[in-house]
Amino acid sequence: MNYKLNNGKDKKISSAFKKLLELIMHERKSLSIAMIATVVCSFAELSTPMIIGYAIDNYIKNKDIHGLMISGIFLFLMYLVWMVFTYVQNMMTGMTGRKVLFDLRNKIFKKLQSLPISFFNQNKNGDLISRMNNDTDKLNLFFSQSLVQAMRNVFIILGALIIILILNPSLGLVAIIPAVIILIISVLLSSINERVNAKNLQSLGGLSSEIQESLLSFKVIIAFNRQDYFLKKFNESNENNFKASVKADIMNKTFIPLFDLASNVGQLSVLCYGAYLVSTGSITVGLLITYILYLAHFYDPLKHLAVIWPSFQIAMTALNRIYEILNLKSNIRIIPGGAGSDNDHFLEFKDVSFCYEEGKYVLKDMNIQLNKGKTYAFVGPTGGGKTTTASLMARLYDPTEGVIYLEGKDIRSYEHKDLSRKIGFILQDAFLFSGTIKENILYGNDEYASYTDEQLAQLLKDSELDGLLEKFSDGLRTVISPDETTISLGEKQLIAFMRAVLRKPELLILDEATANIDTVTEQFLEKILSRLPKETIKVIIAHRLNTIEGADTIFFVNSGKVVKADSMQMAVDMLINEKRES
Ligand SMILES: Nc1ncnc2c1ncn2[C@@H]1O[C@H](COP(=O)(O)OP(=O)(O)OP(=O)(O)O)[C@@H](O)[C@H]1O
Ligand SMILES: [Mg+2]
Repeated sequence: MNYKLNNGKDKKISSAFKKLLELIMHERKSLSIAMIATVVCSFAELSTPMIIGYAIDNYIKNKDIHGLMISGIFLFLMYLVWMVFTYVQNMMTGMTGRKVLFDLRNKIFKKLQSLPISFFNQNKNGDLISRMNNDTDKLNLFFSQSLVQAMRNVFIILGALIIILILNPSLGLVAIIPAVIILIISVLLSSINERVNAKNLQSLGGLSSEIQESLLSFKVIIAFNRQDYFLKKFNESNENNFKASVKADIMNKTFIPLFDLASNVGQLSVLCYGAYLVSTGSITVGLLITYILYLAHFYDPLKHLAVIWPSFQIAMTALNRIYEILNLKSNIRIIPGGAGSDNDHFLEFKDVSFCYEEGKYVLKDMNIQLNKGKTYAFVGPTGGGKTTTASLMARLYDPTEGVIYLEGKDIRSYEHKDLSRKIGFILQDAFLFSGTIKENILYGNDEYASYTDEQLAQLLKDSELDGLLEKFSDGLRTVISPDETTISLGEKQLIAFMRAVLRKPELLILDEATANIDTVTEQFLEKILSRLPKETIKVIIAHRLNTIEGADTIFFVNSGKVVKADSMQMAVDMLINEKRES
């Protein structure tokens, strides 16, 4: 299945805007208060030119000091109302934004946890981190800075537009013509704008991937003195990002002077036409001043919107990129019921084929059966498909074709916790996470989740695993990091061994589980394994053939095909022949 993220290329700003509305609609309460506060402060702001115009025509002209003072008090009250409600609006919009972002980050994290390993194989960590950090940050910036202004400006523009058209329709039309022309130009340019902003965010994701990969490879870079190679790759990404951000900046900033020009042309037109109307006695001086003040209330917020527009576009592009992750459906789902098998094998591969990348088969028509109490060995050349087979048994991936049956039922119909109780694995790359050994051992193990250190230590003793714990200075409380600089490969395998064996799984998969472990410890592990219940099925994958000496059945895996080897000697011959042929 294809899990490659494609940077929201096929998504429009309008579809992101719909999603934004859905998201903020969840915060109805704070949003409603913010809206009411916006209406009140817009009303307060829009009433001031009216009061000033009225005062000029009625009180200044007639030298009415009392009337002028009352107008002054009114104005002051309106400024006060404006201040209080602007504060409420800022607070409530900020609250809405914070809640939306909080939920969105949680959603992304939950989604990432539900996605299959193929998703992480197909996408670079750096880009994912960029989506989690940079893209949500762009949304944060929009919520914390632009949304308040956008809401207020839209209300004020609409209010001012209605007032100027009602006060004098012909003067109103003269005033808004430049704005209409600029709006048409903006709409025409906006698709180019969308594209450059998307490219900018994509290059930021690329840069983040490059930095992450270089950080992971630093030991290799220094060891092989290949600073030049990585510097070149980094420079390319950095330069791409620089060029993309310059292009985006040029596009985004084009709108601001255009709106400035429209505002100036609008005011000039109103002044000329208005002066003419005053001279003919059609309007009063007060009305003209009121008009010019309203015009400022129409064009200033429009200019602000032009400044906010790019950050809105960037935020919507970021939202599209985030939704690309949220819309993915995990194929590692539990399917209800599932097809049954007539056979009573514990695990059965029925015509299983698998590819990591579409069309490139790693396993082809695999048919194997595993039965209770048996030990199976998988041998074969490097890259033959052994780890892939083991990963399918543990349901880290689902087959591309065919079915895997576990106790006669499709493996996909089992809950993950039931699977992890039945199947334990120690893969070549031991899956560990940062935390204590105890946390790593108990991860996903509901049965012993509430055990204290003492109880767990006793449990390890009962399974004779306590000897392995002695290798760690702080015992169960030893803090580990899967990063190899703080823990050896063998130590990682020992922890994975404790985790798998403690569950007493019915099927235990050991993929090169002792490859990095000294001979004495290896013998110790063999002793522990021999004490597992008799019916435990063991799958052992190893290059060192002595490790698989006691196996009941040997499978030879090569180029995605699996053949049963009748004896150890036959497996050795197959390996030698394979080496000769290649
Ligand atoms: N995550 C992945 N994405 C794409 N291809 C992969 C991935 N993991 C393995 N492969 C490819 O699948 C093939 C089988 O790999 P696999 O790890 O199963 O081999 P293996 O038999 O375990 O080899 P080894 O003996 O070296 O451990 C190889 O060609 C490998 O390059
Ligand atoms: Mg392998």
